[in-house]
Amino acid sequence: TKPRILVTRAVFPDVVERLAQHFDVEANPNDDIYSKDELVGKLQGKDAVFTTPSSSMTAEVIAACPSLKAICNMAVGFNNIDIAAATRAGIVVTNTPDVLNETTADFAWALLLATARRVTESEHWLRAGKWQKWRYDTLLGADVHGATLGIIGMGRIGQAIARRSMGFDMQVIYHNRSKVAEHLEARANNARYVSKEELLRTADHIVLALPYSPEAHHTIGAAELAAMKPTATLINIARGGIVDDAALIVALRANRLAAAGLDVFENEPAFDPAFLTLSNVVLTPHIASASEPTRRAMANCAADNLIAALTDGTPPNILNPEVRNKG
Ligand code: GLV
Ligand code: GLV
Repeated sequence: TKPRILVTRAVFPDVVERLAQHFDVEANPNDDIYSKDELVGKLQGKDAVFTTPSSSMTAEVIAACPSLKAICNMAVGFNNIDIAAATRAGIVVTNTPDVLNETTADFAWALLLATARRVTESEHWLRAGKWQKWRYDTLLGADVHGATLGIIGMGRIGQAIARRSMGFDMQVIYHNRSKVAEHLEARANNARYVSKEELLRTADHIVLALPYSPEAHHTIGAAELAAMKPTATLINIARGGIVDDAALIVALRANRLAAAGLDVFENEPAFDPAFLTLSNVVLTPHIASASEPTRRAMANCAADNLIAALTDGTPPNILNPEVRNKG
């Protein structure tokens, strides 16, 4: 008999069919949102689970699902999974790195340009019939070219964002847990490693590209917002919780910074409705990796990992290799 797997959310039907060639698949084409108890119920007797960031694989869920051997997340981020609990339970965990780097970097730039140049605000203004005459000071924004780009989190996505700044003649500074190798800095438009304090104080545009972890919680809070230039732009394409949303709302309302572009929120898909009352923010619903080819690549990458995990035991993107070594 085939191993049994659960796909927690709707995904591309052809990827589900691929999985069905190997496994007995319980899919979710209606995209129902399972409660914790429903999820645990559906996972009974399953060998593996194909998850998305909206599926919370907490220590409690993991402990209640003793048949699980693999959790394969369709995302590069994996803060929806308690890796330590999975490792203790001998469960392999995988993610989908690399396939989304360039698409996500493109979107960081879309948000940066839209935010600095007030693109969505301008469109709302035009649609509202406010364009009656030319004025010298209509919707003035900040320049992107020639400015200093500050990147917090200089992994593969941060580096892809930095590379794109060459065409805009920007200086790049970055902060990261550790300095990256010099040849990578060179490729990233000669990015220069600085302290978080220097970055906040001197960058014109700040992009957050770090993974979420408890240590990264509120990397940008009231104190950091106060340290930024009042003309600065803040972009978050990383994860909700890296920014203190309540503090950001206060700062945007007081024009403590010029504007923010946000693809992720604390408690998404819920978010603080005060954001909707602000004109100096560009809001998007967690779509940085959402191009057709990239979302397909992510789904197939997660499927590849799942197939490998349940067949020869060597998923390419294993996050906890110590599980395999236990035998
Ligand atoms: C999306 O946010 C991802 O982590 O891939
Ligand atoms: C701007 O469009 C100008 O004509 O100056």
